[in-house]
Amino acid sequence: MADLLGNMRRTHHCNELGIEDEGRQVVLMGWVQRRRDHGGVIFIDLRDREGLTQVVFNPEVDAEVHAKAHVIRSEFVLGVRGKVVKRFEGMANPNLKTGEIEIMVNELKIFNAAKTPPFQIEENIEVSENIRLAHRHIDLRRPQLQKNLMLRHRTGAAVRRYLNDLGFIDIETPFLTRSTPEGARDYLVPSRVNPGQFYALPQSPQLFKQLLMVSGFDRYYQIVRCFRDEDLRADRQPEFTQIDIEMSFVGEEDVMATAEGMMRAVFKDVLDLDLTPPFARLTYDEAVGRYGLDKPDTRFDLELKDVSDIVAGSGFKVFADVVAKGGIVKAINAKGCVDMTRREIDELTEFVAVYRARGLAYIKVREDQWQSPIAKFFTDDEKAALAQRLDMVPGDLVFFGADQPKVVNDSLGNLRNHLGAKLGLIEEGRFNFVWVTHFPLMEYDEVEKRYQALHHPFTAPVEEDFDLLDEDPLRVRSRAYDLVLNGNEVGGGSIRIHRTDLQEKVFSALGMGPEDYQEKFGFLLSALESGAPPHGGIAFGLDRLVMLLCGQPSIRDIIAFPKTQKAACLLTGAPSDAAKAQLDELSLRVRKLMPDA
Ligand code: AMO
Ligand code: AMP
Repeated sequence: MADLLGNMRRTHHCNELGIEDEGRQVVLMGWVQRRRDHGGVIFIDLRDREGLTQVVFNPEVDAEVHAKAHVIRSEFVLGVRGKVVKRFEGMANPNLKTGEIEIMVNELKIFNAAKTPPFQIEENIEVSENIRLAHRHIDLRRPQLQKNLMLRHRTGAAVRRYLNDLGFIDIETPFLTRSTPEGARDYLVPSRVNPGQFYALPQSPQLFKQLLMVSGFDRYYQIVRCFRDEDLRADRQPEFTQIDIEMSFVGEEDVMATAEGMMRAVFKDVLDLDLTPPFARLTYDEAVGRYGLDKPDTRFDLELKDVSDIVAGSGFKVFADVVAKGGIVKAINAKGCVDMTRREIDELTEFVAVYRARGLAYIKVREDQWQSPIAKFFTDDEKAALAQRLDMVPGDLVFFGADQPKVVNDSLGNLRNHLGAKLGLIEEGRFNFVWVTHFPLMEYDEVEKRYQALHHPFTAPVEEDFDLLDEDPLRVRSRAYDLVLNGNEVGGGSIRIHRTDLQEKVFSALGMGPEDYQEKFGFLLSALESGAPPHGGIAFGLDRLVMLLCGQPSIRDIIAFPKTQKAACLLTGAPSDAAKAQLDELSLRVRKLMPDA
């Protein structure tokens, strides 16, 4: 078969040529973005991953090539040879880097025809995401997605460079493994040679990286896929990528400084932005107290204020009762929002209801009075105290939440983010990092009726709190830290437990008996007994980080082949049924449950 390329080889990419190249003979290759005919002359925007160049077929320049060009349609794949010429006066396109020139073509190769694409390869066209995902190879031709994936590549490269220079070693850990508890469900893989048994795909390499420290590798990293079967959202995928790091002979300051340096290197390399570590820090209690959430967006104020003490004895029964039952009342002052309509307030009330809030009381501060369904219940003293604590001046609109702390913090914390966006309080292009430290070691799971590790069960407790493990486990603080960027948890880690006795104690506090933890984590306990150094680490969500670097709303936009909310790949049709023969080989039988079975 004749070589289709012949002697044609690219000399430039499609975003390279300019007026300084006038007169050169060049060869470009790419896809047809657009074709226009003007008075017998054919204009084509040729596209590759770098950009666009206009190429021209003029019958007066070369009649034969012009005749051949008539069949060309969108997304055909071409090679063209021709001369760089300056565009006519007034025809330059200032929006295009190559907009001052065009290529007068004298040789054309059509490498491939293309069916009419299901949608135009352009930004801002109205196509449902599902159609895009079903034709992802075509959607990925969009300049934005190409930019995103190239930026992702540069992020990974910057991370590797930084960590390599600091002596971190890239070591691969298994995908076919045992359950690694990170709080989500596992993806299971049936074993053919061990009928009835299963591997779990790792939710993270947590235990392996700890074992590598025990083995003496000292500094480990891996840019690694993790698998979690959980409910999906814009910032969660069933398989996602971590920048996973572990270090020996370190405390939290060392890990945090390494992570800060890494962020600085990435932002410099990728966005040419100078971050100035150390980043701000908040304890978990401060973060939840002031922002309602353990991943506060610190780009704007609108902080939550606790007013429980002021309203505890008030005539508004809802507030007084909540405080009497151990709940809290908190408020947000939306400055200058006094003219918010009833309908908007109703919408906000519906918004907080999603977080189980039972209402959203408010006070509008007018020049002469408080306009509010609840103002009448407060004494003058209570009013004065509220006005002072909440800095209430005419023009303000104050919202109140009253309930158990978790409900109040969740609902007002999310309301705060919602208002920040709605009121335009968030400055574009700003990157606010904040560390959140001193998380509780465990929380009580109301559904399962037992304590659960807030991060994972290998996180070390703060030393002063060791004694509380028996007395009051919920008050034990952990040596965990999360890195939050603009209200997104982009990384999390901790100093680990490196002694068997403490690890056993924590397993017990989490309601595991010796038999249970020996069966699940015996290999870890015996590793800790074999000479484990003090160690700790962190893992970054690469997808979330890149999403923020790209300014994209969803991690689906920065993953080449993402899954839908139902964890499906619309391109390949995964997941799908398995053939009976395959199931037999795996000793599996599928029982299809009817909805009402
Ligand atoms: P953690 O569970 O906090 O920690 O995960 C680390 C980071 O991974 C990202 N992330 C996700 N990104 C996309 N989709 C998901 N489903 C998803 N789940 C988590 C987040 C998160 O901050 N082994 C520990 C780390 C350690 O202790 O060193 C761990 O996995 O950005
Ligand atoms: P009610 O007395 O139930 O009509 O409520 C008066 C106002 O208080 C309304 O604006 C409700 O939205 C609000 N409200 C009721 N319960 C709560 C609560 N638990 N937290 C905050 N506001 C509430």
